[in-house]
Amino acid sequence: MEIRSLLQYHQAYKNSVEDPEKFWGDLSKGFLWHQEPSKILDWDFKKPEVHWFSDGQLNITENCLDRHLIDKADQTAIIWEPNDPGEAAQHISYQQLFDRVCRFANVLKRHGLGKGDRICIYMPMVPELAIAVLACARIGAVHSVVFAGFSSTALADRINDAQCKMLITADGSFRGSKTIDLKGIADEALKRCSSVQHVVVFQRTKQDVSMEPGRDLWWHHEIEQVDSHCPAEVMNAEDLLFILYTSGSTGKPKGMVHTCGGYMVYTTFTFKTVFQYQPGDLYWCTADIGWITGHSYIVYGPLAAGATTLMFEGVPSYPDMGRFWEVVEKHQVNIFYTAPTAIRALQKADLSFVNKYDLSSLKTLGTVGEPINEEAWNWYNQNIGKDNCPIVDTWWQTETGGIMISPIAGVTPLKPTYATLPLPGVRLVLMDESGSVIEDNDVEGRLCIGFPWPSMARTIYGNHTRYRETYFSAYEGYYFTGDGCKRDQDGYYRITGRVDDVIIVSGHNLGTAEIESVIDEHEKVIETAVVGFPHDIKGNAIYAYAITREMVENEDQLRSEILSLVSETIGPIAKPDKIQFVPGLPKTRSGKIMRRILRKIASHEYEDLGDISTLLDPSIVEEIKKGVL
Ligand code: WTA
Repeated sequence: MEIRSLLQYHQAYKNSVEDPEKFWGDLSKGFLWHQEPSKILDWDFKKPEVHWFSDGQLNITENCLDRHLIDKADQTAIIWEPNDPGEAAQHISYQQLFDRVCRFANVLKRHGLGKGDRICIYMPMVPELAIAVLACARIGAVHSVVFAGFSSTALADRINDAQCKMLITADGSFRGSKTIDLKGIADEALKRCSSVQHVVVFQRTKQDVSMEPGRDLWWHHEIEQVDSHCPAEVMNAEDLLFILYTSGSTGKPKGMVHTCGGYMVYTTFTFKTVFQYQPGDLYWCTADIGWITGHSYIVYGPLAAGATTLMFEGVPSYPDMGRFWEVVEKHQVNIFYTAPTAIRALQKADLSFVNKYDLSSLKTLGTVGEPINEEAWNWYNQNIGKDNCPIVDTWWQTETGGIMISPIAGVTPLKPTYATLPLPGVRLVLMDESGSVIEDNDVEGRLCIGFPWPSMARTIYGNHTRYRETYFSAYEGYYFTGDGCKRDQDGYYRITGRVDDVIIVSGHNLGTAEIESVIDEHEKVIETAVVGFPHDIKGNAIYAYAITREMVENEDQLRSEILSLVSETIGPIAKPDKIQFVPGLPKTRSGKIMRRILRKIASHEYEDLGDISTLLDPSIVEEIKKGVL
């Protein structure tokens, strides 16, 4: 089904709501199944339980690879652009990708891995990362990709939570002018991970690494031991495809579980629809495969659609701020999908970095991960799109698996900063704080979803109770997104930001509780409260208030100790921009920290703090205001 006009969109939306089973059942026919599904949907948001295509059998890699060999064997599947512009790009055809995936899948099998086993992948943005992901899916193993910017502690926690039997990593990684010792970090993590039997190490930087005999295996040796014939494991539609961890408002990260059939159908449909991908187009999503955006819209969606997808190893600022635009010109990119944070950073650079390059190949632009402000939207539109490319502002989540609210390129009339309208099948509901549905337009509320969609996460790995409590208990019968949202007089949606204790920094989710518990581990700190405050590039930055055991003599010293602690425990992305040492925190009589007040102070908006009389000690607010950074 193709949506090429607003009328077709409205018709498709109507069909999807009136008869969801027919709508998704029809769409599922465009795929290769070992057994076509006869049951389309079973669901109950109270349990909550959702099954799509439950008696269908398939392997997603046959849809991403095998079926394209008939007419697209020589078409490029992946273009890989390395960190350093001096190094040659790679063009990998569908045939070559198929062979490399099958070969690596045989490596996994040779070491005893199979259906249902969890495999952790901690790799730089090299083609072998996509190959490792697909090889897991080929044999029915469940991949858990951990972003290569996470620290050893964060890696170990994720490996242990999923009880991974194998880790796939690299000797090191190149990011801009830096080289990162991935294997060293992995070794540190593995000291705490007894479930891991083997580590496959891809050689990227050729730096010295220590290899533990019996445990550690070189990628390039292993692939010599096997051939490239590997039949796909037949999977049930509801079998696990992958786990991907995301931060929550409390406690440890949540391993969101995605399953095979619904995820495939939804990511492929949304990829084709939102970007209006046409055969021959070159599509580039700048995300890292370590995040959901990379899973759904670098690997699975584009490959299942038979597209050519570009993978970029580097960063936007290396060797200079023109790097993205150089790559667009070099490879003649048609569709470009990035994060508002990157746009805001590039907007600050001189325009000559843009104007040096011919960007006329671009047809469609996209953004994801956080709200885009009007100034950045306009800059992107004028300087990159030359007022001639639709911008699709795509709202979705690790939990949703695929894009939920977005313009359809060239179809939906745009409104800057608005994610516009829900995609077919997505039933949005705004709730007020008391849990009543807000019906009208020109309103604001909490964004919920009232009906299942095929790519929704089915559970939190090993903790279904937490899944229910986090997403289905705030408003009974609804999935709660955690986001605030506005619906304007035209029925257009605009995401206003998180309403829970998750902070989106540079498009990455960070839980305040997770950062607080790390800072609390410092021997000099008694208690911490972490909030977000507006930042002109990162969208939000982190502000930490810490109560110390005694007067701090050297604040800078303590700050840098806290920063290293956060960096080592979670990763550099979680480092607070500001740390203020305070004598106490504003708490209610029941001991709850009033974060609303701390957020206002951190944003330097303390004229009107609202009612603070319910605080145990209202005078603490004055103390905190005096020391604000
Ligand atoms: C935020 C990323 C505004 C939102 C795909 C959501 C957005 C969280 C947008 C999920 C957007 C994502 N406009 N906010 N277009 N896209 N968000 O799990 O707060 O890394 O809940 O998934 O990012 O982040 P996640």
